[in-house]
Amino acid sequence: MQDRTSVRDILDKYENGETLTMLTAYDAPVARQVDRGGVDMILVGDSAADNHLGHVEDAMVVGDMPFLSYGASMEESVENAGRFMKEAGADAVKLETAPYGETTIEIVDRLTELGIPTMGHIGFTPQRMHQIGGPYIQGRGHTSSAAIDALVETAQRLEEAGVFTIVLETVTEETAKQVTEAVDVPTIGIGAGRYVDGQVLVITDMLGLGGEAFKLSKQYADLDSEVREAVETYVSEVENGEFPTEENVYDPVDEE
Ligand code: KIV
Repeated sequence: MQDRTSVRDILDKYENGETLTMLTAYDAPVARQVDRGGVDMILVGDSAADNHLGHVEDAMVVGDMPFLSYGASMEESVENAGRFMKEAGADAVKLETAPYGETTIEIVDRLTELGIPTMGHIGFTPQRMHQIGGPYIQGRGHTSSAAIDALVETAQRLEEAGVFTIVLETVTEETAKQVTEAVDVPTIGIGAGRYVDGQVLVITDMLGLGGEAFKLSKQYADLDSEVREAVETYVSEVENGEFPTEENVYDPVDEE
C-alpha cells in the first residue's frame, strides 16, 4: 500500500483550519510534477474529455494501433482499425512490423485495399520490446548487413502492401539511409539520423516533460520545471489565502 494522503490526512488539515489544495491531472508526467509540487489531492477529472479529446484543425491524425489490437485475426484487425477511423476520427492508422513480419504485412495489405491509409513502423518496435529485449539500436554491425537487408526488405514489402509512409525507429543512420533509398514512400525517422524524409519525436521528450532525456531526442523546453514551479506557487498561494482574489470571484449582478 502506498503512503499517499489519506482521508484522515485531509480531515486533519480541515480540522486544523488549513486550506486544502487540489489540481486535475490527466497524464503521468504532469501528475508527477503536480504531486511533487505538493498538492493534497489530484483529480483525474472528466474535464479530460474537454482538455484532451479535442479535435485538431489541420494536421493528419494517425492512430497508433496498440499491442495486439491487430494480429490475432484479420477480422479483428480490420474492425479495430475501422474503429480508429469511424469512432476516434483518425485519418490513418499506424502498425508496427517485425522484420519480415508476414502477418502484419498481410493486414496492412487488407487495410489499404479497404481504403484505410496505413503508416508502417519498423526498426525498433516498442510493442515487441519483450521479445527484442536489447540491443535497442536496430541495424547495428552493418558490415554483415543481414539486419539492414531485413529492414530494407520489410520496408519494400510494406510499400507493396500500400503504406503511405514508414516510421523508422532507433536504427543506425546508414540503415535509415539504405531503407530510405530503397523505397518510394517517405520515411519518418525517430533516432534514425539525418537521411530520412521526415522526423517524429515523442512530445513529452521534446517538451522536457517526464524526466529522462534520450539521445535520440532534443529537449526544446523544460516543462517539468515550469509545471513544478507553477504548482508550488499555486499551493503556497492557496494556503496563504493569496488565491483566489476578488478578480476570480463572480459577482451576483455580473452578466457572466
Ligand atoms: O508510440 C509512439 O510514440 C511511436 C513513436 C515513437 C513513433 O510509435
